[in-house]
Amino acid sequence: MVANAGLGLATLLITAFDPSLLSGQPCLSQSYYGSFSGRSIFRPDPSCLELVTDSLPSGTIVPASKDMAQLVWIEEQAIDDSLKSPSGGFDLQLEELLTKISTLGTAYSAYDFAGEREQVLGPPITHYDVMYRSGPSALLSLPADAAKVIDTIIPPFWKSTLLLKEPITYVPVPSDAVQRVRALLDSVKFDPTVAAIVSNISVPQMKNDIRFLTGEDGKSGIISRHSFSSGVRTAAAWLSDRFEDTGATCELRPFLAGFAPNVVCRYPSTVNTTATVLLSAHYDSRGSFGSTRAPGGDDDGSGTVALLAIARTIARKGITFRSNVELVAFSGEEQGLLGSKAYAREMREAGTNLTLMVQADMLAYHAPGEPAQLGLPDLIGTPEVSQLVANLSAIYSPELQVGLTPACCSDHQSFHEQGFPSTQVFERAGPIIDPMYHNSGDLSEREGYDFEQLKSIAKVQFATLLTAAGFDLPE
Ligand SMILES: *[C@@H]1O[C@H](CO)[C@@H](O)[C@H](O)[C@H]1NC(C)=O
Ligand SMILES: *[C@@H]1O[C@H](CO)[C@@H](O)[C@H](O)[C@H]1NC(C)=O
Ligand SMILES: *[C@@H]1O[C@H](CO)[C@@H](O)[C@H](O)[C@H]1NC(C)=O
Ligand SMILES: *[C@@H]1O[C@H](CO)[C@@H](O)[C@H](O)[C@H]1NC(C)=O
Ligand SMILES: [Zn+2]
Repeated sequence: MVANAGLGLATLLITAFDPSLLSGQPCLSQSYYGSFSGRSIFRPDPSCLELVTDSLPSGTIVPASKDMAQLVWIEEQAIDDSLKSPSGGFDLQLEELLTKISTLGTAYSAYDFAGEREQVLGPPITHYDVMYRSGPSALLSLPADAAKVIDTIIPPFWKSTLLLKEPITYVPVPSDAVQRVRALLDSVKFDPTVAAIVSNISVPQMKNDIRFLTGEDGKSGIISRHSFSSGVRTAAAWLSDRFEDTGATCELRPFLAGFAPNVVCRYPSTVNTTATVLLSAHYDSRGSFGSTRAPGGDDDGSGTVALLAIARTIARKGITFRSNVELVAFSGEEQGLLGSKAYAREMREAGTNLTLMVQADMLAYHAPGEPAQLGLPDLIGTPEVSQLVANLSAIYSPELQVGLTPACCSDHQSFHEQGFPSTQVFERAGPIIDPMYHNSGDLSEREGYDFEQLKSIAKVQFATLLTAAGFDLPE
């Protein structure tokens, strides 16, 4: 009572994910925290709550103080049955996590990012709360310091997302933007020039690039690409230089203190237009609890080298674009899409005319014996953009089996929330099956890591760029 005096109470509303709620209830779309594993979280004011509760089929109201500590959504990712641990369901693992959190003051000092983080000796954490529980997911309230490192102590195959301090306004993709994607879809047909360009992506080059990013080459000195590590900053500088080698102009754009910057690289348009096409991946990574190693060979070194392979091919072929083109490597993805959220918000505020964006996250792994695949998001994303990607895949990478994946959500979600047409490409037409997901063993040299699938998916992402932006080759 005393601590909260004068601050008043806020209320969270948690509902089943429903796009019509976001477009049909302005007071909700203006108080949106995000959607997580099939749920959406809002912070409506009392009159809004009154307005919507009658029409909602279901939902949970969670009282919360307005100066809530950091809110963190945690969930078990959609994973293949073969990866599920036989013992200890979500509840038991959550119990263990809470115990770990309560000793975080100590664990924190023992766990540092390869000696790269200042050792912090804090008192044990006493103020944490489970605010909501549903299925294999929960909403926690934690002190900010603990929240910042929670991704290093959650169980394997779990994911954590830090909610923003304030809710955002959800912007549905405007119908004229969808119309423009439909027009692209209608125009899709085999183009031998596009086929020749995209097949020029070099597998040996990608093998080389990934070994630098994971540190497998023994030369980069990278041990971790965790968002706060020094390795991730080595990677940022190197990526920026490599993209600039291909004729792009790059910027290291900070978005939050302590986090490595987004690497934003641009190619100019040869014609006078505001139209912009964006391809992206995230270059930060995660390791296992107790190990400082976070090589991120698949998650998301694979998407990052795909992006770089596309850039290298743009240079090799002398391609110029008839739209503005951005290739962006995001940071802070593992803490809750933080880098892309900041960048998508900036783009929205600047009124960027984004034709579409495609995020590449985890492209290289499939279970040994499985065919090469391409997964597209089942819930979060613009269906027309996913259809465009699927149709281009059928044309330029027919070897890929295309389907939907419940593995959700990467940086495209940040653009989706800001009303930009967007989708994600993923390595599997099903849930995650990579046993090294969020693991210190996520290297590129291992069974199941398939550079041919990586190339096939990179070709599709590249074909989407060429189709959406328009391009020319030198005479
Ligand atoms: C895209 O692919 C789907 C499924 O194969 C097909 O039905 C549709 O006609 C294609 N659309 C275009 C515009 O080619
Ligand atoms: C890519 O194209 C260049 C010439 O533009 C050629 O020298 C190179 O062998 C090609 N590489 C692949 C993998 O097709
Ligand atoms: C580009 O187009 C805009 C709007 O149509 C116009 O105002 C501007 O002068 C043009 N710039 C150039 C360099 O032609
Ligand atoms: C965005 O770009 C498209 C394609 O060039 C153009 O038709 C449209 O007018 C642009 N929209 C704005 C708001 O500039
Ligand atoms: Zn990822």
